[in-house]
Formats: sequence, structure tokens, C-alpha cells
Amino acid sequence: MQSNNHSKTILWSTFLLGIIIAFWFVGRKKIFHSAQITSLTHSWDTIIPNQDVPPGMTSLNAQTCGQCHQEIYQEWKLSTHAHAWTDEQYQAELAKNKDLFVCKNCHLPIQNQQKYITTGLYDGDYFSPVQKKNPRFDESLQHEGITCVACHMNNNTIIGSHQNINPTHPVKMDTDYLSEKLCISCHDAHENLADDLICTFETGKEWQAGPYPKEGKNCINCHMPEVERPSASGAISRKGHRHYFPGSGIPKVKGEKVMMLNGLDFDIIADTSSTFVNLGLIVTNNHAGHKVPTGDPERHILIQFDLTENNQVIQSDTFRIGEKWQWWPKAKKLSDNNLRPLESRVFEKKYTLAPKKKYTWKVIVTKHRMTPEIHKYHLLSEKYPTYIEIFRKQISLQNKPTI
Ligand code: HEC
Ligand code: HEC
Ligand code: HEC
Ligand code: HEC
Ligand code: HEC
Repeated sequence: MQSNNHSKTILWSTFLLGIIIAFWFVGRKKIFHSAQITSLTHSWDTIIPNQDVPPGMTSLNAQTCGQCHQEIYQEWKLSTHAHAWTDEQYQAELAKNKDLFVCKNCHLPIQNQQKYITTGLYDGDYFSPVQKKNPRFDESLQHEGITCVACHMNNNTIIGSHQNINPTHPVKMDTDYLSEKLCISCHDAHENLADDLICTFETGKEWQAGPYPKEGKNCINCHMPEVERPSASGAISRKGHRHYFPGSGIPKVKGEKVMMLNGLDFDIIADTSSTFVNLGLIVTNNHAGHKVPTGDPERHILIQFDLTENNQVIQSDTFRIGEKWQWWPKAKKLSDNNLRPLESRVFEKKYTLAPKKKYTWKVIVTKHRMTPEIHKYHLLSEKYPTYIEIFRKQISLQNKPTI
């Protein structure tokens, strides 16, 4: 009995092993013999090849450039661009997406910043890249994200925008390269990478559809304001550009100094002419060259109205400006009420107030990078801020609102 069972077990084990080996052979054949290698064709799946250190310099690092371009270096260090690799949310998302190489191409645009050189895809699958080790990988340059050379170097040459300068290193003037085209090469992409993974930034298209291109106002005019100064130690003073790249103003690390631009104007509505009290807020995108919010689809603005009686909130209403997405099973935009350039929107509420009671009405506007749920989902730390407050106003209401 015992031995009969034993031989049955051996028979079954041999049979199962046979099946496993057969599957392994078929699988192996599929991966190593029949996979088609497809080439990379998009602006965001290819990057700037390895660059040489310019003559007279010790490295491609921002710190090296900063030895002479001191002010520009200090400005850039405060910019979000300098955080494009170290960003906590970015690192969390990269890990969740199995180190997907395309996630690195706009955040680390020079090959020297990446450990692997990607030359194609197996069967067109972004999660199966054809890669080899990059012998010229520079970890400290990787740390700098969108560093000086990311915008200023191509074909082993530093690219500048002025004639008649007196540089200590070779410079090629190319104002077309250093135009809004450079910004749009990263700030405008729309591609499905997998059913539940989509890359979508449409700041470039939003700008093109708005009134600013006709006025000759591009990304650089608003995000790199003009300043007259020597751009390097020992150089003469001339018109150049600040390098803070201010944006939403939501810092990447709590308490850290961050430069910001404000796109919105706010006007209070207080109408007591009818039996109701009508209170509200007009929000106008007067200053941004694109929609507000723009870029990352998780960004949104919340407008909160609180009606208080004797220090107790008796009614609270929240309005949202932003995109809504379904992420699963297939990524799909459900709605988008982002404010277009110069667009105004009215948010209002009618209240019935009892006579002789004391009320206050409060409006608070906050700008968000993500929801608390997404912050939790990515296991981000308390140090990573998700929002900032951008407007607050309080009104006392007795018989009439007093602003
Ligand atoms: C040893 C000093 C020094 C170092 C190091 C240095 N530069 Fe320069 N660079 C200069 C000087 C001087 C000029 C000319 C400025 C002028 O005449 O207005 C210049 C010009 C430029 C220009 C053209 C400016 C224009 O007005 O068009 C760019 C762009 C530039 N440098 C970028 C870089 C980058 C990027 C690095 C680091 C990889 C770097 N530089 C490192 C000294 C330096
Ligand atoms: C190589 C790709 C790349 C280029 C080129 C580029 N950007 Fe960016 N930019 C990024 C990435 C990535 C971020 C976000 C980094 C992060 O949040 O970690 C960013 C962030 C920003 C922000 C800050 C957003 C915020 O809310 O803090 C502004 C503003 C901005 N870029 C403007 C520009 C302008 C203007 C240009 C052209 C002069 C430009 N960028 C060129 C990739 C790029
Ligand atoms: C996101 C892209 C980007 C990054 C990063 C960046 N620059 Fe620039 N830089 C530009 C653009 C665009 C201009 C030209 C603006 C114009 O003339 O319209 C410029 C102009 C300059 C100039 C010419 C003088 C001036 O002020 O206009 C120098 C010098 C320079 N950059 C050096 C640097 C150094 C050094 C770093 C790193 C510390 C750096 N840049 C980082 C985009 C960038
Ligand atoms: C007319 C001025 C203007 C122009 C032109 C402009 N921007 Fe902006 N941008 C702003 C202002 C103002 C904000 C701040 C919006 C806010 O949050 O209130 C902003 C915010 C941003 C942000 C932060 C994202 C966010 O939701 O706040 C990015 C990224 C950005 N701009 C990139 C660009 C790029 C790329 C271009 C060119 C295609 C460009 N901008 C053209 C004024 C401008
Ligand atoms: C086409 C260029 C491009 C590619 C490819 C790209 N990014 Fe970005 N990323 C950007 C730009 C531009 C911003 C800034 C958007 C803004 O603030 O408007 C950004 C910002 C971010 C941010 C900060 C968002 C915030 O609200 O501050 C994270 C996180 C991020 N990217 C993750 C990823 C991941 C994960 C991938 C791969 C799936 C990826 N990126 C691929 C261009 C790119």
C-alpha cells in the first residue's frame, strides 16, 4: 500500500516536472527567440545622449556651473526642477511602476543621469525595455533632476541665447532651442502607457489655445522674468532671466522656501437685496498663460464657504476646480472644469438668516497637489505637503453683510 502510493507520487511528480519544463521552454522561446524589438519614436521615450564635460570644467554638475553663474545657481536650487528626481511622490510612483524608464526621461533628460541606456522595446511593451548599462552614469548628476545641462546642452555644446558674450567655455547661440519649445518638450505629453497608466500634461496646448501666443507672451516671459545683471562672475551686466521657475507654490518639503506665481483673482459677491442673503466668490484666471490648475491631473482647487452662528459652523459647502479621472480598469478623463486663461467663474450660495442673530461667513481657497487619499496610498511622509491656502476672507452678517 505504502510503496504503491510512493510510486504514484513519483509518477505524478515526474509528470508535473515534465509540464513545467515544457512550459519553461515555450516561455523562454517566446522571450528570447520570437520577441519583436520595436524602436523608440516619441520625444519622451528618447533622451539626450551622454554629453562630454566641456573643456576647462571638472564635471557637468550644477555646482560646477555655479562657481561662475552664482546667482543663477542659487535661484535654480530653489526651483521645482531641482527636485524633479528627489521628489518623494515621484520616487513612490516610480517604485509602484516598476522603475519604468519613460518616467525618467523628462525628470532626468540627459543620458549621463541614467544608469541604463534604453535602445528599444520587446514587443512594443514599455515595461520590457531593451537596455544596457551606461558606463558614464553619474549619480550626483542624477540627484540634480532638471539641472543646468538638461536645458543648456546638446551635441556636446553649451547652448546660450546671447550674441557678443565673453565666455570661458564654448557656447553656441540658439534662441530657437532655448524658446518655449524647450518647455513644451516636457510640459506637453499625452500617452497611454498601460490601461491604468497615462501620462498627461497639456500645458503647451492650453497655452497655444489661449490669447498669449498672439501677444508674444510665452512660458519664459512669465516663468523666467527679465533681470539686468552680469550672468557670470567677471561678465558685464546685460538683460537676462531669473531661474526660480515659480509655479503653484506648493513646496516639496514642509517649511521649505518656494517661489510662487498667482494666476487667480478673487472678488466677493454679497447681495442682500432679496429675502435671501446671496454670498459668493468670483474666481478669474487673470494671470496664468494656460488653465489653472494645469499639468498633473491630480491638481485641484477647493473653495469652502462656512456659515457660522455663535462660533458654530451651521453650514459648510465646498466647490472644486480640477479634473476628475477614473484610473481603473482603464484610465479615462471624466470631467475637466479647470479655468481657461481669462475665464471667470461664479460660486455662490443663498442663505436664509434668522433676524437679530449674529452670523459670520468665511471663504477659504486652497490649492492642492493631491487628495489626502492619494497621499496615504503612496505612503508619503508628513513632511510632504499636499496643499497651500491662497485666499481667506471673513464677513460679519447681522442685518446686512459688512465686508
Ligand atoms: C569658469 C567660469 C564658468 C563656468 C564654470 C561655467 N561658465 Fe558659463 N559662462 C561663463 C562666462 C564668463 C560666460 C559669459 C557671460 C557673458 O559674457 O555675459 C558664460 C556663458 C554661459 C552661457 C551663455 C550665456 C548667454 O548670455 O547666452 C551659458 C548658457 C552658460 N554659460 C552655461 C553654463 C553651464 C551650463 C555651466 C556648467 C556646465 C557653465 N556655464 C559653467 C563662465 C562660466
Ligand atoms: C526636461 C524636462 C523639462 C523641461 C525642458 C522643462 N521642464 Fe518644467 N518641469 C519638469 C518637471 C518634471 C517638473 C516637476 C518636477 C516635480 O514636481 O518634481 C517641472 C516643473 C516646473 C514648474 C513648477 C511647477 C510647480 O508647481 O512647482 C514650472 C513653473 C516649470 N516646470 C516651468 C518650465 C518652463 C518655463 C520651462 C522652459 C524654460 C520648463 N519648465 C522646462 C520638466 C521640464
Ligand atoms: C528648465 C530649463 C533651464 C534650466 C534648468 C536652466 N536654464 Fe539657464 N536658461 C534657460 C532659458 C530658456 C534661458 C534663455 C532665456 C531667453 O533668453 O529667452 C536661459 C538663460 C541662461 C543664461 C543666459 C543669461 C540669462 O540669464 O538669460 C545663463 C548663463 C544660464 N541660463 C545658465 C544656467 C545655469 C548655470 C543653470 C543651472 C544652475 C541653468 N541655466 C538652468 C533655461 C534653463
Ligand atoms: C501669462 C503668463 C504665463 C504664461 C505665458 C505661462 N504661464 Fe505657467 N503659470 C503662470 C501662473 C500665474 C501660474 C500659477 C497658477 C496658479 O496656481 O495660480 C503658472 C503655473 C504653471 C505651472 C504650475 C502648475 C500649476 O497647476 O500651478 C506650470 C508647470 C507652468 N505654469 C508651466 C508653463 C509652461 C510650460 C508654459 C508655456 C507653455 C507656461 N507655463 C506659460 C503664468 C504663465
Ligand atoms: C513628457 C514628460 C514627462 C514624463 C514622461 C513623465 N513626467 Fe512626471 N512630470 C512632468 C512634468 C512636466 C511635471 C510637472 C507638472 C506640473 O506641475 O504641471 C511632472 C511632475 C511629476 C510629479 C509631481 C506632481 C505634482 O503634482 O507635483 C510626479 C510625482 C511625476 N511627475 C511622476 C511621473 C511618473 C511616475 C512618470 C512615469 C509614469 C512620469 N512622471 C513621467 C513630465 C513628465
